[in-house]
Amino acid sequence: ALDSDLAGRHVVVSAGGTREAIDPVRFIGNRSSGLQGYALAATAVARGASVTLVSANVALPDPAGAKVVRVGSARELREAVLAGRAGADVVVMAAAVADFRPDAAAASKIKKSGAAPGPISLTENPDILLELGRERAHAGQVIVGFAAETDNVLEHGRAKLARKGCDLLVVNQVGGGRAFGTADNQAVVLGADGTATEIAHGPKEDLADRVWDLVGERLAS
Ligand code: C5P
Repeated sequence: ALDSDLAGRHVVVSAGGTREAIDPVRFIGNRSSGLQGYALAATAVARGASVTLVSANVALPDPAGAKVVRVGSARELREAVLAGRAGADVVVMAAAVADFRPDAAAASKIKKSGAAPGPISLTENPDILLELGRERAHAGQVIVGFAAETDNVLEHGRAKLARKGCDLLVVNQVGGGRAFGTADNQAVVLGADGTATEIAHGPKEDLADRVWDLVGERLAS
């Protein structure tokens, strides 16, 4: 059933982590490697989908057969995802999007002055998943989010799924060296229909395939 079950489907996957400029050489970033998003893109290609991979600051080879769009910041990632969503049957937000960015990036490198530096004032970034989930580009579009939680994983996951309005939320427990930058992952996938599917610890490709299985069940035939 895996072979080509996504043939004729167009999917958009975001991967990696955004960088929010402080000045031309410095940024606020996060520890996302992009491995899970790239595994989702590669497995979707293998199952016959047409794949647009929106990649934020990832040091991995392009997955063969995917269209890769490179972005830096959360606002760039939003533009790329929104540009791709109209024709997409599925959007998977695997990227770690910065919740905040510096109010304004300095035009030139901030220098040491001898005095204590001032604080960096932050502005909230748009929540892309919320935007996708609250208003579908077309009926039947399947929206998938990711959530990294350190505690009360299921409870926080359920609340996030409801708030963001997505169809599926892949919830990882993080901290203590789990998930970030490692080849393996483990998760619970929560469905808007109340389902909870545990995915045993294993390669990120296996988790990706299980996610596509759950997406496939939700795609109109
Ligand atoms: O709210 P939180 O950051 O935990 O939610 C994680 C999910 O929301 C991920 O799917 C991530 O890609 C997405 N997200 C987003 N825009 C943001 C923050 C998170 O799309 N500004």
